[in-house]
Amino acid sequence: MADKDGMVLAKEYGLDCPPVKEAFHIKGMDHVDWGMKDRLSRIFRPDTGKTVMLAFDHGYIMGATAGLERLDLSINPLAPYADALMATRGALRTCIQPNHNKPVILRATAGSTVLKDDMSWEVSGVDIDDAVRINASCLAVQAFVGANGECRSLENIVRTVDSGARYGIPTMGVTAVGKEMERTPRYFMLATRVLAELGAHIVKTYYCDDFEKVTAACPVPIVVAGGKKTSEMDALHLTYKAIQDGAAGVDMGRNVFQSDCPVGMLRAISAIVHDGLTPPQGFDLYQSVKSQLA
Ligand code: 5RP
Repeated sequence: MADKDGMVLAKEYGLDCPPVKEAFHIKGMDHVDWGMKDRLSRIFRPDTGKTVMLAFDHGYIMGATAGLERLDLSINPLAPYADALMATRGALRTCIQPNHNKPVILRATAGSTVLKDDMSWEVSGVDIDDAVRINASCLAVQAFVGANGECRSLENIVRTVDSGARYGIPTMGVTAVGKEMERTPRYFMLATRVLAELGAHIVKTYYCDDFEKVTAACPVPIVVAGGKKTSEMDALHLTYKAIQDGAAGVDMGRNVFQSDCPVGMLRAISAIVHDGLTPPQGFDLYQSVKSQLA
């Protein structure tokens, strides 16, 4: 170095301090690589260990879904209130501002639309190079456990875990519930555990009875989907119960963007997840945001 002479002498070696060693804040992720931890830490807030993902990837099977007709109008105002955005690459590139600087959970499978009875035969939908270009913080892959396309969908998980691992990008396994598929605690316990055992770093599933057993038996964080639009209060109750029963957050779509006040709903969900608000307190927050924005 040109200025090697006259430098301040290094002397603070902390000889009486053992190396700082802190447990990582995300379940089951102590032994993944630094880059993957960095990406996961963008998704799961280090101060709470939890996340609120805003899901708006519905168009990949449903086309123009209610509330998502104009992604540019509906999602850009909501993005600042989410911890992470779950979307397709097409939606991101065409409609979402890149300067939100939110971690992206990239929909990484493609398959049949809702026009087909059997949607369980998905294929890998994004090349890993394109996921890197889009700066994905996570890849989302649907698993159809128990359906005709079960084996192929689990292969999609395994292949994505492998390709993501090459670049330190984690994979989220998504448990799909098709028309004929079970929705019992036994089913969700099996499906979530299988995805974690196959290497998924996050598992997305649906809330069910005995949910505390589902989260206990799954060695990675579970996030809960909202499902079809219900009342605001019911969605806040779902969020609360999921967190109480060990979920590490939510990945919600329709109960946010189909609400009559999406920003109020997202803020209320976030306050329940991160700040421990009860459902009635969350509902008050939703209503006060709604009246401020009216
Ligand atoms: C479908 C998905 C969707 O993103 C998810 O279901 C959306 O959330 P919501 O059910 O809350 O609308 O992963 O596989």
